[in-house]
Amino acid sequence: MTENDFVSIGTLALPMLGKVCWKAPSNIALVKYWGKKENQIPANPSISFTLDACATTTSITYTRLEDSAADFQFELYFEGELKEDFKPKIHTFFKRTEKFLPFLKSYEFIIETSNSFPHSSGIASSASGMAALALCLMSIEKEINPDIEDDFFYKKASFLARLGSGSAGRSIEGDLIQWGSSLHIPNSSDLFGIHYPFEVHRNFRNFHDTILLVHKGQKTVSSTVGHDLMYGHPFAKERFSQAHKNLDKLKSIFASGDLSGFIEIVESEALTLHAMMMTSLPYFILMKPNTLEIINRIWAFRDATKTPICFTLDAGANVHVLYPESAKEKAIQFIQDELVAYCENGHYICDRIGKGAKQLSTTIG
Ligand code: PMV
Repeated sequence: MTENDFVSIGTLALPMLGKVCWKAPSNIALVKYWGKKENQIPANPSISFTLDACATTTSITYTRLEDSAADFQFELYFEGELKEDFKPKIHTFFKRTEKFLPFLKSYEFIIETSNSFPHSSGIASSASGMAALALCLMSIEKEINPDIEDDFFYKKASFLARLGSGSAGRSIEGDLIQWGSSLHIPNSSDLFGIHYPFEVHRNFRNFHDTILLVHKGQKTVSSTVGHDLMYGHPFAKERFSQAHKNLDKLKSIFASGDLSGFIEIVESEALTLHAMMMTSLPYFILMKPNTLEIINRIWAFRDATKTPICFTLDAGANVHVLYPESAKEKAIQFIQDELVAYCENGHYICDRIGKGAKQLSTTIG
């Protein structure tokens, strides 16, 4: 498929008004996306577990304008409050997606959005937020063109979400999603996420992700800036090729249920991501002292007890602690006894692999 497959075939009869609502989850990457080409095309393929508890719920009420507007007409409410400062991001998203959603200037939109996790938790809401928004817009497109089939609906939602935030393209469906073209993964694409197409051992079903909130403040360097710093980065070429190799290695690990192999790749990916930040120009560090304390504690605990527990990191200081269902009791006890002390105000979120986004309600006027 190419980008042109997502260009809509003109506007058919536009409904007068309606309301759509979706809940979309966050995701945690196992092989990380860090570095992109133009139009949010990833510099390397990535793969993630879709999460369950961490999610954004968004509704859009749409009212048709008498004449198409010169610019996008929308209001944005976040957790019940009008948020002017969130508007530029949505405006940019509308601009990027207008070519694929030609009805955008024909409506006035009221966008109401909220997260299941606290806004100031240091958890990025861009993946779940952009995924929920893209799904709402697809539901409107489906009202206009009811012939759209499910497969296309979800592919295009992922395609659109990706234009808002790259990793959002992996937040549409569950439970293990691969995004970015790879020679060895059939139907993999730079344009949208796909279900991981190979065998996945039961060890990796029901995986848990306990998110330790080490630092709830705004991070000092945004992902957008971080991605850009991969241009001309001295280790970029090696890094992109390493991501391909790690994705290839995961194939037999997923099939056989090899938890040690999984841990090695996942932790190496997290540390490589942060190593790229530390070796960019300008360089930066997003980990905090407590991030390192937690990592060392996890290593010591794993060594001593042989529990298959590991960590990964996003572009921030919070630590995602990953473990299979079989290690749940031991892991939770360990987290409570030894790791919670390193979380800001003792806060953490118990999450697990989820099944993807859900439509909550649709009312057509
Ligand atoms: O989707 P973005 O542009 O915020 O980039 C996210 C990148 C990481 O979260 C650090 C890695 C990933 O693959 O999710």
